[in-house]
Amino acid sequence: MSPSTTPVTALSGNGKLVYGCDYNPEQWDREVWQEDVLLMRQAGVNLVAVNIFGWAELEGSPGTYSFERLDEILGLLHANGIAVNLGTGTSSTPAWLTTLHPEILPQSASGTRAWPGGRQAWCPSSPLYREHALRLVQEVARRYGGHPAVRLWHVSNELGCHNALCYCDVSAAAFRGWLIDRYGSLDALNKAWGTTFWSQRYSDWQQLLPPRVTVSTNNPMQVLDFHRFSSDELLGYYQSEAEVLRQHSSIPVTTNFMVAAHVRNQDYWSWAPHMDVIANDHYLDHRLDSPTMELAFAADTTRGLANGQPWLLMEHSTSAVNWQPRNIAKGPGEMLRNSLAHLARGADGLCFFQWRASVQGSEKFHSAMLPHSGTDSRIWREVVELGGILDKLAEVGGTTVQAEAALVFSWEAWWAYDQESHPSSDVRYLDQVHAIYKALWEAGITVDVVAPGADLSGYKLAVVPGLYLVREREAGVLAEYVRKGGHAVVTYFSGIVDENERVLAGGYPGAFRSLLGIRTEEFFPLAPGQALALDNGSAAALWTEALRLEGAEAKVCFVEGHLTGTAAVTRNRHGSGHAWYIGTALNPAALRDVVTEAAGGAGITGLASPEGLEAVVRAGTDNSYVFLINHSEEEHKYAVQGHELIVGEDVSSVVAVPAGAVRVVRTSRPLPQTTGRTTGPKDVESD
Ligand code: GLA
Repeated sequence: MSPSTTPVTALSGNGKLVYGCDYNPEQWDREVWQEDVLLMRQAGVNLVAVNIFGWAELEGSPGTYSFERLDEILGLLHANGIAVNLGTGTSSTPAWLTTLHPEILPQSASGTRAWPGGRQAWCPSSPLYREHALRLVQEVARRYGGHPAVRLWHVSNELGCHNALCYCDVSAAAFRGWLIDRYGSLDALNKAWGTTFWSQRYSDWQQLLPPRVTVSTNNPMQVLDFHRFSSDELLGYYQSEAEVLRQHSSIPVTTNFMVAAHVRNQDYWSWAPHMDVIANDHYLDHRLDSPTMELAFAADTTRGLANGQPWLLMEHSTSAVNWQPRNIAKGPGEMLRNSLAHLARGADGLCFFQWRASVQGSEKFHSAMLPHSGTDSRIWREVVELGGILDKLAEVGGTTVQAEAALVFSWEAWWAYDQESHPSSDVRYLDQVHAIYKALWEAGITVDVVAPGADLSGYKLAVVPGLYLVREREAGVLAEYVRKGGHAVVTYFSGIVDENERVLAGGYPGAFRSLLGIRTEEFFPLAPGQALALDNGSAAALWTEALRLEGAEAKVCFVEGHLTGTAAVTRNRHGSGHAWYIGTALNPAALRDVVTEAAGGAGITGLASPEGLEAVVRAGTDNSYVFLINHSEEEHKYAVQGHELIVGEDVSSVVAVPAGAVRVVRTSRPLPQTTGRTTGPKDVESD
């Protein structure tokens, strides 16, 4: 199976949009379970994830299994019409296992072995761990592979959340094996890693190690390949569980991804084809400037992993989490806005961590659908309201998001970009990605997030932020797209090295020089707080470069400093298209100006989203659905005709979206010319 062959709505058991949660009944007495299922029905919950952390309960001692409680829970859920997303239970090892085999515990780069007592404390390469875990998976699959409640297999949990990089001797041996497969010979490895530098040449495979702590910096290719290896290793682990499941069951298999700003260790482009359903966990990250924008980016990326098809939000939160320095609670209506933003961007199911707030353990202050305060609470009322709204939006299931622009995103480039000994440690990959995504988001331009080298021919605009590492073929796809009439925007520190971290010499950005019609001789990163004036009235920060025009025209130039008169932003005609280069960190307003000019040149006007109003369109064969999410504190009006599904009223020309509210308008397909595009909130008097 592939992501597109298992519709998410098939998982709910009733063909509706999925509404659900993680459910950890083992934390509660049996009487509580009865109340749980009653309340789940009241809220409209139709899919729950159970047995996520079940190992110690199911296998109390080696090889002794006890399934009675899980049998009972599955039976209860089934009797109440609630489908099950069944965890294999392997995520967290039981104490007996790590006591018996402490060598399963993962080791840090400095050689410290982790202790048990938390969760996910296992080395991804450990054959002992795998043997024990697969034995459990086999028992679970045999017992429940044909259970009528089970609709989805949930392999482990957030693979790599805590244990993605293990540096122990077992991992070292596995890394060596991976390197032998990749390079075939030591000569090839030495060449790819550039080991003539600092006398790093290897003469025997046994000398190769993970990038453990050194007194200086590690070889960048050792670091990059260790990331590649570690991602592959956990994917391999996923596949081994999936294989066991498939021997006993034809139920679709998945695991929950972590497409998020603080997690970067899995290259999900390589994982996605192995999932029957694409599922993601997402939490607002209040360490970022704009958590709401990042939610949109993560949702668009998840849709990219699903090849544009609907996907499942496996976890998010009704309110605060417990793992950030300050766990900001969601205000009234915010959970609904977050949920429907995921739905707008292609989710066909919304699940939460977790059903009932724990009263013990390290997550007891994490929000849940049923908070400590019980049903007489704002959170519970919003949970019930969301269940009702999802019922009203059922017809949106199966439709796909409409996007005219693509954003090229790469976990591999992220690993390479953020390494040490680069021109400036203030310049980070994800910051660049978020900056340009935000400019598009604010301009109401929906983007599909795609992998380097993906087919761009269906898009009017391709945005390429900080693609530091790029393969020749991938750069070729972009150049060919522009040559045939496409429009591209490339940002600084892109196209610098090939897949072996080897600088493409002759002037930066080596991979994109002729596409962009420029040649940079030298980088000049700026000091913290330093800004250089530009002739568009804004200022350059963080990064500048001595850029020479080789066919491109200057769009924005420096008017201060030793680069005065040279270009900071350029545009080049390449074949029948245009390629822009943004060679500095522009402030948000200036970046938005450049991006909207480039988009305008490509024929994209965006969905005219006024400040604070997020607009996204999903389309099916007969209808389109315009999602309008008002993040602001004032009412917005939006020009569209059709039928509003949440309030349930016809819209003749303009829909009002109250402050903090969401409206979803079903309209004919294709969208009428007037839809939102030319109408800001203030321009519309009334409907
Ligand atoms: C992750 C895990 C859950 C829980 C939540 C808390 O998503 O999968 O088990 O720990 O984080 O936010």
